[in-house]
Amino acid sequence: TASYEMIKTEKRGDKQNVALITLNRPKALNALCDKLVSELSQAVECYDKDESVGAIIVTGSEKAFAAGADIKEMLNQTYSKNVKEGLLEAWDKITKCKKPVIAAVNGYALGGGCELAMMCDIIYAGDRAKFGQPEVTIGTIPGAGGTQRIARSCGKSKAMEICLTGNQITALEAENMGLVSKVIPADKLVDEAIKLGEKIASHSPLIIQMCKESVNVAFESSLQEGLRFEKRAFYATFATDDRKEGMTAFTEKRAPNFKNN
Ligand code: CAA
Repeated sequence: TASYEMIKTEKRGDKQNVALITLNRPKALNALCDKLVSELSQAVECYDKDESVGAIIVTGSEKAFAAGADIKEMLNQTYSKNVKEGLLEAWDKITKCKKPVIAAVNGYALGGGCELAMMCDIIYAGDRAKFGQPEVTIGTIPGAGGTQRIARSCGKSKAMEICLTGNQITALEAENMGLVSKVIPADKLVDEAIKLGEKIASHSPLIIQMCKESVNVAFESSLQEGLRFEKRAFYATFATDDRKEGMTAFTEKRAPNFKNN
């Protein structure tokens, strides 16, 4: 297995089927420098291909999920270098993962940290987590999806307020806005995220992949187009063995035995 400098990786859960990726650059509060992002996307890609894994969790420390893109790395960037090198473009790789990715956010999720959390499929927050897009306070704007993903998940007024003020919002506020799906005591957060991952991993990975893909279409299309996509994907589940097994198990009053086929 690959050896990483800025992240830790392990398999967790009773069946060792939940991958846990821990951002581990404590001196910089997990600021997302190129190396960290490249290790993170490499790990996500690896686990996406690993058939024993049913869900992937990304977490940080109790102090910081991630305090943003690395400001020191960006300090001397220029417009033309951004265009030529595609500044922050590599982050998108995380969104290409076919398996569910859960962000377990303790502490600061600011700027790129908040954006990374929003690239994940589900966000669980520790009760002392702080979210925000402080880019305007350093003379720039969110550049990894902040202005778009907050607007889509929480609406215009919240997106404008968060992006235009740079203010931090609490875990509870984030939950009320619909940015996070659950708030959990900080020391229980990762365990709860693992339980969530185990629940998801108990289903057919193939069907879970189709389901994730279908929900994602909701953020990229009109309702009619999305409904059409969903219907096709729903019909397509009938081409799988796992659909037959799931429905058969129900009628036979037993647990399904999914084969990922
Ligand atoms: N980039 C680089 N280094 C960072 C960093 C970042 N985003 N955030 C924190 N650090 C570093 C600090 O420079 C400091 O390093 P030194 O000890 O070498 O000085 C170390 O991490 C600890 O940070 P602080 O001393 O500041 O810790 P604190 O507890 O006093 O404050 C904080 C915590 C409020 C999160 C503060 O660190 C902070 O405001 N960080 C920057 C947040 C920010 O502006 N993020 C947006 C970045 S831009 C972006 O993300 C663009 C985009 O859209 C992708």
